[in-house]
Amino acid sequence: MSENLIIFDARVVTPTGFTARKGAEMGRLLVLDGATIEVTDGVITYVGPNRGENRDGYYRRYWHYNARGRCVLPGFVDSHTHFVFGGERAEEFSWRLKGESYMSIMERGGGIASTVKATRASNFIRLRAKAEGFLKQMNAMGVTTVEGKSGYGLDKETELMQLRIMRSLNGDEHRRVDIVPTFLGAHAVPQEYAGRTDDYVDFLIREVMPAVADGGLAEFCDVFCEQGVFSIEQSRRLLLAARGMGFDLKLHADEIVPLGGAGLAAELSATSADHLLAMIDAGCAVALATDLNPGSCFSGSIPLTFALACIYMQMSVEEAITALTLNGAAALNRAATIGSIEAGKKGDLVVLSTDNYHFLPYYVGMNCVIATVKEGVIHPS
Ligand code: NIG
Ligand code: FE
Repeated sequence: MSENLIIFDARVVTPTGFTARKGAEMGRLLVLDGATIEVTDGVITYVGPNRGENRDGYYRRYWHYNARGRCVLPGFVDSHTHFVFGGERAEEFSWRLKGESYMSIMERGGGIASTVKATRASNFIRLRAKAEGFLKQMNAMGVTTVEGKSGYGLDKETELMQLRIMRSLNGDEHRRVDIVPTFLGAHAVPQEYAGRTDDYVDFLIREVMPAVADGGLAEFCDVFCEQGVFSIEQSRRLLLAARGMGFDLKLHADEIVPLGGAGLAAELSATSADHLLAMIDAGCAVALATDLNPGSCFSGSIPLTFALACIYMQMSVEEAITALTLNGAAALNRAATIGSIEAGKKGDLVVLSTDNYHFLPYYVGMNCVIATVKEGVIHPS
């Protein structure tokens, strides 16, 4: 569903452009006071000073929203999550707080393997309901586009089920969040293939990837390129095959041990290399995402992401906004259609309870989003 909507008297805060912003450009935002945003059939058709939109004809064809005292930003794009899974791993979190490493838990059969077990033991309806719950929470915090990965099935049937769940949530007519699906069959080596990682990569390439491609079930192919999981060589083989089947590429690169995943991403012109830290001063385009998953980060919280980026990663508020909007969109090949408030882009927006966008990190861990707009339709948070 899309709508005609006029938001008036807003403080519009947005990065600008139709490609990712790099380095110092990330800190440059356009701020317009007393602004009007016009959305026609779900697409932004005007942004700028009020043009007398309150006259009669407009009232008939457009919903009106008075945004006096409110900031309006582009909808947030959470460009990296694993939001479809069974079970949780709260006890592992406590072990890690006591000093055990993520990898050592994984090596003794916990970690991803335990979520794979719980996901295989669940079913479409239960997994879908749980995933939908996460989407609702994320939307209330301003997310209007989310990427989601498979990778907790690691067999053909369950990988396809995870992707079908995303497709069915995406097709929901009352949807508030667009879902961009990623095939992450190479998230871990399943028990059945223990010690035979190359055979598992062959299985993914021969059996699973073609089924994902034929069903149009994923846009991207991702791999956990990590010591003890998939090597650079195995990742390259998998990603080249994926490209041959029409997928765009992503990598979990150098998350724990710096193996050279970032270099591989550059070599293959991947759309994004994820889990790299603090690259803005090197002139890179950085996106922020929650990485919601049951192991390394059980949180889809945008306020937490803002706070961590600004307090611990030395990002400015402006850089963090760009990283969660336009650059998140670019990480999903969508910078031409979402991620900023400009004519021609989708009418996907966030309305804050305040006219001061610095609240995003300042109101630490708290939500200052009062509504989101999806293609011109307003959804109160
Ligand atoms: O992005 N690193 C690989 N994947 C996830 C964690 C998955 C899990 O622990 O369940 C991540 O950190
Ligand atoms: Fe991840």
